[in-house]
Amino acid sequence: MEKIKIAFYDTKDYDRDAFEEQCDPNEFEISYYDTRLSAETCKLAQGADAVCVFVNDTVDETVIKCLAGMGVKLVALRCAGYNNVDVKQAYGRLHVVRVPAYSPYAVAEHAMALLLTSIRRIHKAYIRTRDFNFSLNGLTGFDLHGKTVGVVGTGRIGCVFMDICRGFGMNIIAYDKFPKADLGVEYVSIDEIWARSDIISFHCPLTDENKNMVNASSIAKMKKGVVLINTSRGGLIDSEALLEGIKERKIGAACLDVYDEEANIFFHDFSGHIVNDDTLARLISMPNVIVTSHQAFLTREALSNIAATTLDNVRRFFAGETVANEVCYKCANLATCNQKHDRKCF
Ligand code: NAI
Repeated sequence: MEKIKIAFYDTKDYDRDAFEEQCDPNEFEISYYDTRLSAETCKLAQGADAVCVFVNDTVDETVIKCLAGMGVKLVALRCAGYNNVDVKQAYGRLHVVRVPAYSPYAVAEHAMALLLTSIRRIHKAYIRTRDFNFSLNGLTGFDLHGKTVGVVGTGRIGCVFMDICRGFGMNIIAYDKFPKADLGVEYVSIDEIWARSDIISFHCPLTDENKNMVNASSIAKMKKGVVLINTSRGGLIDSEALLEGIKERKIGAACLDVYDEEANIFFHDFSGHIVNDDTLARLISMPNVIVTSHQAFLTREALSNIAATTLDNVRRFFAGETVANEVCYKCANLATCNQKHDRKCF
């Protein structure tokens, strides 16, 4: 049997470890590249059957045409979100598979970790006590119990996050474009989320429709002191509007695992360098902003599940089997997707 050749972009040590542990070398031949997939680097995939990419690889029209022209058949995303893939351009040229769920717990628990760190000032206390400063001034937090959390997106991660919030005795309201009948949660309009929530956590995909849903006008509708948590995609928040909201003391705190312009910054070590992103620099300089660099997924369990599902997606695709995890631009809009994945998208 011919080995399936995979060009693996944006490789980090933890990716390689997880994939090498799961990969049968008689079945797959993986070439690992540190570089991201882009118009400049797509030629590295010459001779490959599939490319394996992550959140900040670029899979736009140029890249899609280049890959398809070289005979690549499959884009295997090793993540859930696929907003970095032009699925419309890919349709008919390249099939796209993803890992829809690898550990909703990893992301939901990180969202709660950020929230607790922020409101209980753990990040400040940690620095203080390391310097033998045991003063409590400025570390006053607030109870989560009895507070209202607005959850935007009640899919896998949103549901786990709501369960965690229930454990804290919080009141939960939710907004979803496609509400689920059986969740037992109070669904409200997005305007009610803005108006009623003490804390708002985002767990929906980034689409053209909801880009910059946190903007000057939505911030104006929010409660004073609201805490925003974004572990979803940076593009949901207009960062300049967020900064204004923070400066006006409207936003009480922001917990950001994602950032709109993260692509060339996150996952890299810039300590000792100048970061050419004034907006991010100003956000990080705020005492009530916590930034982690797209770390929410990073647990042992998630990495192992990502590797297993990605390799299974690729294996099934090249065996001509149904791949339930395939996505196309029709799937992106549930209203028009007829594929139901009992066959390939095209
Ligand atoms: P999911 O597909 O299970 O749930 C997404 C939910 O959002 C669905 O209920 C859907 O109906 C809803 N939705 C779709 N469009 C919406 C809109 N315009 N407004 C409100 N709700 C909308 O996805 P899952 O697994 O819960 O992941 C959610 C998001 O988390 C992903 O799209 C991804 O962007 C992000 N993510 C971030 C990670 C990180 O490391 N920071 C890791 C994994 C996912």
